[in-house]
Amino acid sequence: MKTVMILSGAGLSAESGLRTFRDSNGLWEEYDLMEVCSASGFAKNPKKVLEFYNERRMQLKDVKPNHAHKVISELKSEFKEQIFIITQNVDDLLERANCKDVIHLHGFLPELRCEACESVFNIGYERQKDRICPKCKKPFLRHNIVMFEEAAPQYATLYNLLNKTKLFVCIGTSGAVLPVGHFARMCEKSILNNLEYDEQLSIFFDKTYTKKASEAIDEIATDIRTFLKD
Ligand code: APR
Repeated sequence: MKTVMILSGAGLSAESGLRTFRDSNGLWEEYDLMEVCSASGFAKNPKKVLEFYNERRMQLKDVKPNHAHKVISELKSEFKEQIFIITQNVDDLLERANCKDVIHLHGFLPELRCEACESVFNIGYERQKDRICPKCKKPFLRHNIVMFEEAAPQYATLYNLLNKTKLFVCIGTSGAVLPVGHFARMCEKSILNNLEYDEQLSIFFDKTYTKKASEAIDEIATDIRTFLKD
């Protein structure tokens, strides 16, 4: 069976108004990554980290899916078993574009997780009020986000699906965390879409669209439909 993986990063949600991390004016220009997005930073100053994620969670109520989220959702409903939707993003914009079975590699902003009993709670776009888990009553409730220095359990699923992927489509990620060039080489065909041309990344891909995701996505959808229907 021909299969496609659509792997996305912060660039997919940029046009919805959510900041990326490493572009100019990105989050890591304003915040110290290791202070607000690492296990050691969380241990050192939990209040600052919880506030960082509260801000980002509450911002979700002010943004909405863009054209690229919607087209990805349409492709997923058209080719259910043949398309894997994987994202590094922690926003819910694909879900709000009605996309099913989205795999979030780095967690999900609307959720809290208890580090004692592993329960997960969806609090929507609310600020986290306290750290007591409603289930086990222990004080270890936190954002359900994979921070640096923490395990990313969904990476096992990513590699498992990559081994079954024939066409790898990579949208809006710098490759700073995931070796997406290596993933492209693991698959028969590959397409990259980013805003800036990065020679170091593009050399691994058969085709590169250097434009906004909402402008590239219709051409990418045609490439995917042609590939799956051939
Ligand atoms: N359309 C397409 N691509 C875009 C757009 C856009 N409108 N705007 C920006 N981009 C691209 C940039 O060219 C860049 O390659 O999105 C990419 C954003 O890169 P990063 O900011 O590094 O975001 P990402 O790759 O998702 O970061 C990976 O790092 O900080 C951690 O856990 C965090 O999941 C995140 C991971």
